[in-house]
Amino acid sequence: MHAAFYSIIVMKTKGIILAGGSGSRLYPTTAVFSKQLQPVYDKPLIYYPLATLLLAGIREILIISTPRDTPYFEQLLGDGSQWGISLEYIIQSEPKGLAEAFIYGKDFIGQDQVCLILGDNVFYGKLDFLRKAIAENTGGTIFGYHVQDPERYGVVEFGAHGEVLSIEEKPLKPKSNYAIPGLYIFTHDVTEIAPKVQPSARGEVEITEIHNAYLRNNQLRVELMGRGIAWLDTGTPESLLEASTFIHAIEKRQGTKIACLEEIALQMKYITREKYLETVNNLPKSSYRDYCVRVLDEIERESF
Ligand code: TTP
Repeated sequence: MHAAFYSIIVMKTKGIILAGGSGSRLYPTTAVFSKQLQPVYDKPLIYYPLATLLLAGIREILIISTPRDTPYFEQLLGDGSQWGISLEYIIQSEPKGLAEAFIYGKDFIGQDQVCLILGDNVFYGKLDFLRKAIAENTGGTIFGYHVQDPERYGVVEFGAHGEVLSIEEKPLKPKSNYAIPGLYIFTHDVTEIAPKVQPSARGEVEITEIHNAYLRNNQLRVELMGRGIAWLDTGTPESLLEASTFIHAIEKRQGTKIACLEEIALQMKYITREKYLETVNNLPKSSYRDYCVRVLDEIERESF
């Protein structure tokens, strides 16, 4: 009893960003480098999922990408020390499916729980739901998000009392409008489950199979993400443009930036004021840097 309670309190959570794939729907934009390096308005796409993990309190993060793109991610993000976090990189030799994250990530995950986020998923809104789900997870936790076009995603079927009946990958006839966003939390035993998953008809090891393994064991929670959260995916030219427009509209109106990693690191106290200044001083002259300077002024003025 005591041991179980203790493990809930202290269970460490590591993060994985899956940032490989072929990005074929974005061709020719992705002909030379990957989708997650493309801009969403004023910063590379991968900043957004990285910001989500940081805001969820996760500081040890593995980035999995292609042989071609991994060096670019290392160049862009480094070892994370500028933000007071640790970033590691692993190459996925071929894009054989989302569940491979837990095969490549086995040693990284170790005995900790893991939060996987897809490198092309953007979340905006109050992230309390994620922090709560991480704290309460005891097996697998995935989310349900009401969308107009569920057939493009994994879809949850609910019973009369809200219980989960099934999860289907890209069904022709979806049993609900609840799609599963690319944000998942699993206990470390996911690294034992993933290697047993057989490739699907399209030749991928599907993450849906992992969900179903937890569901069969009665260990899967599906939390609904409310309307207050925006979930955008960026896999097609149109959705990438829509994400840029969305970020632009909010940033312009509020005079704040979404997914400014320096600001988040400071607010989360991952870095000191001195480290923040050092990091910001190393940024080239840009509106991004100007913003970072202004943010510190504002924080210090507000604290008086
Ligand atoms: P998808 O959008 O399903 O695939 P993709 O990025 O290869 O694009 P397309 O369908 O246009 O060819 O991938 C979702 C996310 O997961 C994205 O960030 C890429 C990543 N991914 C991997 O890193 N490895 C993989 O094996 C797969 C399938 C996806």
